[in-house]
Amino acid sequence: YVLGVDLGTSAVKVSALDHSGQIVAQESFGYDLIQQQPGYNEQNPEDWVSGTTVAIVRLILTDHLAAEDIEGLSFSGQMHGLVLLDENKKVLRPAILWNDTRTTAQREEIMDKMGDEFIDITRNQPLEGFTLTKLLWVKENEPDIWKKAKYFVLPKDYVRYRMTGNLAMDYSDATGTVLLDVAKGQWSQRICDVFDIPMSMCPPLIKSIDLAGTVTPAYAEFSGLTTATKVFGGAADNAAGAVGAGILEPNMVMSSIGTSGVVLKYEDNADVNYHGVLQFEDHAIPDKFYSMGVTLAAGYSLSWFKKTFAPAEDFNDVVASAGKSTVGANGLLYTPYIVGERAPYADANIRGSFTGIDGIHQRYDFVRAVLEGIIFSFRDLFDIYEENGGDFDTVVSIGGGAKSPLWLQIQADIFNRKVVSLKNEQGPGMGAAMMAATGLGWFDSLQDCAKTFVHFGKEYQPIPANVAKYQKLHQIYKQVYGQTKQISE
Ligand code: XUL
Repeated sequence: YVLGVDLGTSAVKVSALDHSGQIVAQESFGYDLIQQQPGYNEQNPEDWVSGTTVAIVRLILTDHLAAEDIEGLSFSGQMHGLVLLDENKKVLRPAILWNDTRTTAQREEIMDKMGDEFIDITRNQPLEGFTLTKLLWVKENEPDIWKKAKYFVLPKDYVRYRMTGNLAMDYSDATGTVLLDVAKGQWSQRICDVFDIPMSMCPPLIKSIDLAGTVTPAYAEFSGLTTATKVFGGAADNAAGAVGAGILEPNMVMSSIGTSGVVLKYEDNADVNYHGVLQFEDHAIPDKFYSMGVTLAAGYSLSWFKKTFAPAEDFNDVVASAGKSTVGANGLLYTPYIVGERAPYADANIRGSFTGIDGIHQRYDFVRAVLEGIIFSFRDLFDIYEENGGDFDTVVSIGGGAKSPLWLQIQADIFNRKVVSLKNEQGPGMGAAMMAATGLGWFDSLQDCAKTFVHFGKEYQPIPANVAKYQKLHQIYKQVYGQTKQISE
């Protein structure tokens, strides 16, 4: 077996898979957020280690997996969280997580000092979520801790360190620190110099499928694993999610609808520069990349609508009711900016809208407008890809959008591309398990592993008449942002 450890923000989920990619057992364990002030989100790294260990112990004791059959394991990790270690590799303070927003001053400081040069090196904006801003915050606000800090790692790297005794970070998570020179594939000396961060704090870089070590005797005793179990690098959760969804070829894009939505595109090289409008990260495949943009209120738009206007009804029935409306929701248009937006507009203040309300509209027209508006916001990111010469023909839909045949067809029509869902969607833990399976040599590459582990379901083809209608509507949709910006200013 291989284990895929999905180290999330609310829980860790560990899945055991066999050689054919079937899940044989799964265990999870939750942990708390520490929120001492508004905008602060921290976690205790020890909780990740003990949560992961409890899940592994349960796999062995409750699900009766034989420890000696667990050949290898790897990770998907919540991104960007800062874990600071002293010279003995002991944790110095709680980890500051990706969703902690205390670092606006540091974000501005980075742009003031480096501006576009920073974006050219890292291919990303120094957003509050990203690790460098957190390092600078500790440096400026907690000098006593900073003095003792000798290394920094990201959440899953810390768990891996505790299992193997070896400190490392994989490239896919390293881009999310915004300390990596992405084109060169090295820590950026220039950024370290400008912000006076010793290069020695940056951990050794490894690939996602590289062997990071074997389980130490101490961790074997703690977890019930044997010291023969091999531990592989693993990847950032978005990269691992992409691996698990088969986004491993240049013609593939992922469309993911959770509370927020993600459009993620495989990138064959680092030649394209989105100037920070999209995030640009190393993939779990060596020397390959992905870009991504986030729609903040994707599934959230729908859950807000249902909670407000159809509280007593079944969620799936509400979604399905959109089938009673027409392509274009009988002239009703929705923009999903109800909690601000991330991409293509990085605008925390913008708010959403319904436009074109008619006295004949029914609630199902509003539901359809919401489903379409979310996909129009994804389509904005497809436009960026097309403007930059991006060529792709397949969209893999995961999350909420993949659960409704109607929403899958809306995606095919608005994207004007073939849309497929996954037969057995497992999220980033599947990608993590695939990295272990490939690292162990069960397969020659992640692409090869995907042929056994990843299976696509029904294909949805764009319907030309719908495509034409949506193309017209999307031109109108694109104007709404500029026209409604003033309302929220
Ligand atoms: C991506 C990001 C989130 C976290 C969630 O930049 O911040 O997707 O990785 O775990």
